[in-house]
Amino acid sequence: MILDEPVDDAEGSVRALRLEERPLPVPKRGEVLVRVEASVCNPSDQMFLRGRYRCARKPPCGPGFEGAGVVVGSGGGMIGRFLLGKRVACGGNEPGGGTWAEYFVASVMLCFPLRKDVDFVAGATMLVNPLTALAFVDMAKQRRASAIVHTAAASQLGRLLAIFARERDLPVIHVVRREAQAELLRELGAEHVLNSSDDDHDEKLRLASERLGATLAFDAIAGTSPGKLLAALPHHSTVVSYGKLTGLSLSAVDPADLLFDGKQLIGFHLNRWLASAGLWWTLSAGRRIQAALASGRIATSVRCEVGFDGFADALVEYAADMGAGKVILRPGH
Ligand SMILES: NC(=O)c1ccc[n+]([C@@H]2O[C@H](COP(=O)([O-])OP(=O)(O)OC[C@H]3O[C@@H](n4cnc5c(N)ncnc54)[C@H](OP(=O)(O)O)[C@@H]3O)[C@@H](O)[C@H]2O)c1
Repeated sequence: MILDEPVDDAEGSVRALRLEERPLPVPKRGEVLVRVEASVCNPSDQMFLRGRYRCARKPPCGPGFEGAGVVVGSGGGMIGRFLLGKRVACGGNEPGGGTWAEYFVASVMLCFPLRKDVDFVAGATMLVNPLTALAFVDMAKQRRASAIVHTAAASQLGRLLAIFARERDLPVIHVVRREAQAELLRELGAEHVLNSSDDDHDEKLRLASERLGATLAFDAIAGTSPGKLLAALPHHSTVVSYGKLTGLSLSAVDPADLLFDGKQLIGFHLNRWLASAGLWWTLSAGRRIQAALASGRIATSVRCEVGFDGFADALVEYAADMGAGKVILRPGH
C-alpha cells in the first residue's frame, strides 16, 4: 500500500492510498524481513496520512508503524539469525516502507518474538499502546506521583493504562467525554472517572487531583486540554502532552501556572522513551505485555479484520467512530 503524498483530510487521505507491486525489500545488517500477517491503524497513522506526523519516513512510501508476522529473511547479525522463522510483533518508522504491506523490513531491535499463546492480531497491537501505557505507569512511579490524570481515557491506550495502573496500585483520574465511556471504564474497575462534558468538570478535576495527590497528567487531546489540566492540578505538577486527537495546537496555557506555581508542560513520544529507557526495559516490558495478553488481563478491541480490498472503507469508519475498536489489516486475506 502506497501513500504518494499526504492529504489533510480524514477520508481523502485514506482514499488516496493505492496498491502497488514492488520487488521484495532486502534487509540490511541488523534488519529482518517480516512477512506481515496483521497490522493496525492507530491515530499516529492517521496523522501520518494527513502529513501531520514528524518521522524519518516520508511519502511517497508505505504507511503503517506496527504489525506482526513471520521473519523470513535476515540481513545478518546474531539477533537477525536468531529471529529467522520466528513469529514476531514488530514496528518502526524505517524510511523504506511500513507494515501496511505483505512484507516489512524491521530493525531487529523492534522485533519481539511472540509467545505461542499470543496470536498475530494481538501481536499487531502489542507495541505502540501497551508500551506507552507501561511507560506512563513507570514515569509516575519514578516521579513519585501519588495519582495521575489521563484524558481521552476510554481510548484503547486508556483502557490498558487503567489495568496496568491498578496492578501497580496507582490511582488514575480517568477523564472521558461521554457517559458510555465512563461506564466502560468502571466495568474495567476504574474508580475515579470524570466526564469533561459536565458543567462543573474543571472544579471536580481540581478537587479530585488535590484529594488524590495527582501531580502528573497525560493528555492526548491537545487544544485547550493541557492548559486546563495545568490549571486544575496542584502546584509543582507536570502535564505530559502525548497526542493531538483534536488536531489542534495547544492553547489556553496560562504562563502564570508555569511561572508562579512551578508547573511544567512536557512532551512524550514512545520512541524517545524507548531510547532512554534502554534495551532491558523494552525487553522486560515486551514480556510483561505478552504475559498480560496471554492471561486475558489486557486486550485491544478490534472492530474488524480486512484484506487490502476492504481496508480503505474500514479506515473511514474508524475515523468516524474511533471508540469502536481497531481496524486490522490482514494482507494475506
Ligand atoms: N506519543 C506517543 O508516543 C503515543 C503512543 C501511543 C499512543 N499515542 C496517542 O494516544 C492516543 C490514543 O491512541 P489509541 O490508539 O488508544 O486511540 P483509539 O482508541 O484508537 O481512538 C481514539 C480514542 O480517543 C477518543 N477521542 C478522539 N478524539 C477525541 C477528542 N477530541 N477528545 C476526547 N477523546 C477523543 C475516541 O473516543 P470517541 O469515541 O469519543 O471519539 C477514542 O476512544 C492517540 O492520540 C495516539 O496518538 C501517543
